[in-house]
Amino acid sequence: MNVGIDAISFYSSNYFIDLKTLGEVRGVDPDKYYVGIGQEKMAIPPPDEDIVTMGASAAQAIVQREGKDRIEMLLFATESGIDQSKAAGVFVHGLLQLPARCRTVELKEACYSGTAALQLAAAWVQAHPASRVLVVAADVARYELGSPGEPTQGCGAVAMLVTAHPRILALDPEVGLYTEDVMDFWRPNYRDQALVDGKYSTRVYLQALQACWQQYREQSGRDLADIHRFCYHLPFTRMAEKAHERLLKSSGASATDEQQKQQMGGTLDYNKRTGNSYAASLYVGLTCLLDTSAEDLAGKRIGLFSYGSGCVAEYFSGVVQPGYQARLFADQHRTMLEQRTELTYRQYEDIYNLVFPTDGGRHTFSRYRTGPFRLAGVNQHKRLYEAAT
Ligand code: HMG
Repeated sequence: MNVGIDAISFYSSNYFIDLKTLGEVRGVDPDKYYVGIGQEKMAIPPPDEDIVTMGASAAQAIVQREGKDRIEMLLFATESGIDQSKAAGVFVHGLLQLPARCRTVELKEACYSGTAALQLAAAWVQAHPASRVLVVAADVARYELGSPGEPTQGCGAVAMLVTAHPRILALDPEVGLYTEDVMDFWRPNYRDQALVDGKYSTRVYLQALQACWQQYREQSGRDLADIHRFCYHLPFTRMAEKAHERLLKSSGASATDEQQKQQMGGTLDYNKRTGNSYAASLYVGLTCLLDTSAEDLAGKRIGLFSYGSGCVAEYFSGVVQPGYQARLFADQHRTMLEQRTELTYRQYEDIYNLVFPTDGGRHTFSRYRTGPFRLAGVNQHKRLYEAAT
């Protein structure tokens, strides 16, 4: 039985700052951002947008088209949790009015949790083929102003419907797995910006990739030539290019720059324009590949590398299904990215410095341009969500 992704939808904020603008203010050559780390724009969530509104917006497109029947599990992957107890997915469940017969939880392991959710969903569906699972991965990447991590901020959400008749990507059973207790990137509960040992984090990412790939290769008997396109976790797009170079080198494969670009072709563009969205980021790359590839990918195998700092990593793969193009939301994604509003540096800093009210009083948030849902305010420490229209 095939199990995998039957629908995939992406949402990001309607606001962004161009990294040229950031470079001017920070006195940094914009090419360091555009070329050196391979990022052009950062999506910035306005005050009435958070992981719940972004996740619900990504998922709504799927639920509206595919219906709610037999969605028996909602797995919400994030490291930007809004509550220590209540799962963000329960808010999404409410906004989308999903059936009460549903198991809803939140998962965390840095950027890896989206993959944990996808694989747990696949295992559930394997055991219960009639049921469907909604996986939502959403995050806001936030570092200190002026820090090396600042230009790699961003935000976004991806929702995926996992079924026993996947019409987009059928997952292969073989996986390469890796866990190691390291402090490359972390965020203590009392902080709302991540701490990171940046250069070290890139080294651990590459080590984890090699370990996972080696295992995946042994388990599956497949080699690089069996993978048609390579998707990587995307903290910034240069990281993925370096990872792919490393993979080729360590496998003794030779490829020209042009061939390397082609092997990753079409996975990077959305991320260049939104920045890191942590748990969602690998799947933003996959969505971008599927949406924008001029080539028919049906029957082709896609390799995916998921990395979450701390760290947990996984190499896995899947085969694109015939007719997948008709299942995509490519037009909506293109329109969303084209119609965003550019922020000035001052506007970016003002949004960045806004402090979420913690006094328990009633606070109403200004209305910005969001997706179908918005965070209207907070009262008695309770977040109040509403339809945006
Ligand atoms: P940095 O130290 O300021 O940058 O920040 P740099 O000085 O190393 O420069 C970056 C690249 O730009 C270099 O190229 C420069 O040569 C080049 P490289 O040597 O790497 O090939 N450069 C230029 N290129 C063209 N024109 C110029 C120019 N100037 C310089 N004028 C760093 C880099 C990654 C450390 C920083 O962005 C950072 O701390 N980022 C956050 C951490 C991160 O993203 N780590 C990635 C791996 S960990 C991960 O993926 C997990 C994560 O997503 C979290 C999670 O799991 O939840 C982060």
